[in-house]
Amino acid sequence: MIKLNESIHVPNALEAVFTYTSDFSNIKDWDPGVAVSQKRSKGGAQVGSTYDLTLCFGPFRPKMEYTITAYKPFSKVTLNGRGESFRAIDTISFFKTPTGTRIDYEAQIYFPGVSKHMEKILTPVLKNTGRKAIQGLEAKLSGENRMYKQSSCFFSGSNGFDYIADHMILPGMLMFSKLGYSLSKRFWAEKNETLFGKKVVITGGTSGIGKAAAIKLAGKKACLTIIARNKKKAEQVQQQIIEKTGNPHVDFLIADLSRMEDIKQVAKKLKDRKKTIDVLINNAGALFNERNETIEGFEQTFATDLLGVFYLTELLKDSFPSTGGRIINVSSGGMYTQGIDVDDLQNEVVPYAGSKAYARAKRGIVILTRLWAQQMRYSKVAVHSMHPGWVDTPGIETALPGFHSRINSVLRTPDQGADTIVWLAASNEAGESTGKFWLDRRPHETVLFPKTGESEQARQRLWTKLNLLTRRFEKA
Ligand SMILES: NC(=O)c1ccc[n+]([C@@H]2O[C@H](COP(=O)([O-])OP(=O)(O)OC[C@H]3O[C@@H](n4cnc5c(N)ncnc54)[C@H](OP(=O)(O)O)[C@@H]3O)[C@@H](O)[C@H]2O)c1
Repeated sequence: MIKLNESIHVPNALEAVFTYTSDFSNIKDWDPGVAVSQKRSKGGAQVGSTYDLTLCFGPFRPKMEYTITAYKPFSKVTLNGRGESFRAIDTISFFKTPTGTRIDYEAQIYFPGVSKHMEKILTPVLKNTGRKAIQGLEAKLSGENRMYKQSSCFFSGSNGFDYIADHMILPGMLMFSKLGYSLSKRFWAEKNETLFGKKVVITGGTSGIGKAAAIKLAGKKACLTIIARNKKKAEQVQQQIIEKTGNPHVDFLIADLSRMEDIKQVAKKLKDRKKTIDVLINNAGALFNERNETIEGFEQTFATDLLGVFYLTELLKDSFPSTGGRIINVSSGGMYTQGIDVDDLQNEVVPYAGSKAYARAKRGIVILTRLWAQQMRYSKVAVHSMHPGWVDTPGIETALPGFHSRINSVLRTPDQGADTIVWLAASNEAGESTGKFWLDRRPHETVLFPKTGESEQARQRLWTKLNLLTRRFEKA
């Protein structure tokens, strides 16, 4: 159990403060962590009154139901909250003072099934969240001019962006850790759907998340082709997978996916097999801390993480059977921090920053997913993008050594990171929708901050530019 205690003083009369605060339909006006609050029961606030809340928890919008369990006018109100993965008991006490009202707020939060170690990690984050909520109440009752946009959880105070980052992204990002995985997992029904007889092509299956996914896919009896750049590594991984799963239908093709010429050749080899592809998984990706260009003259983040994904998918788009198929694009939660800059796709204009270039490319993948989903809506091919969470892989250790060593203890295993990829490939449920962005088998919003969204015109311009850049390889 995690306990939060906060106290504030406001200049208003006790009766008014009690009446306003104890009615939880007002909470969205003072707690930046709440997007929607609606009273479900009839009449004024009283024991038994129920409220439906939608919280802002980073990219998540968990629902909670609150019920008033104790109601002592002008002195105390207690509410019990129930969410999908946690419970809370909020007690708010009110005291008249010579200059207004003191409000004491206590919250007890329970995460069933969460270890003590995880509670330790969560405690400071939740304390910060509770503090910001009560500060919001103080500001509201004191008549401070801070404004909310409830629908998007966007706080437009003077330091609005920091406020959001501090208040909502941090707790939300915890869901990217292994804690998020273990919380989410409790709601999954294991159906063990197989991929028997299905042709699955995965890029980057020689390391980290891709390798873990490849093992699981082979375990589900898929006929697997790994696209890899390193022949020796590919041979070793192929052997390991066959030995581990007993599935002999695992092969590989060699291509450097930052090179369009290689991509063209590998797509041709796949097509020459004259077999349809049921699932294409664009997993290969990398974060480069220095700006460099490929031999074809493309900035390497853009080439590997966006242009190459576009080109390979476009070349294989007509390889899916008429009965349906799946395209799964591995993006990243990092994309929440950036919008697409169609005029600077190759990261030339601003001083180069690896994380920013990576986030932009991963944003691009999410946009492409949506465009492919629209274009292929009559073809029964479901196109999805996903975030694997923060995963302990050679890739993250090399690209972000500081980040890796700081949060190493909460990183997911590659198996956990691969889970949603495999679920998107194999489950019937994932075939029922298209164009979504997934984490832990659930679809999530793609834009949290207005500035990171893009117009339809920007999406079409992105498509046109990528198309133009790859067209020259078609002719060669
Ligand atoms: N780890 C995380 O926390 C995290 C978070 C969000 C998103 N992701 C995404 O998840 C995916 C997998 O990343 P990871 O963490 O598993 O990294 P990783 O351990 O470095 O694995 C990356 C894979 O991609 C391959 N690859 C990279 N560049 C390539 C190229 N030019 N041509 C062909 N193959 C190439 C690598 O091949 P080699 O084996 O030859 O190096 C490797 O198989 C990436 O798209 C990454 O952006 C990871």
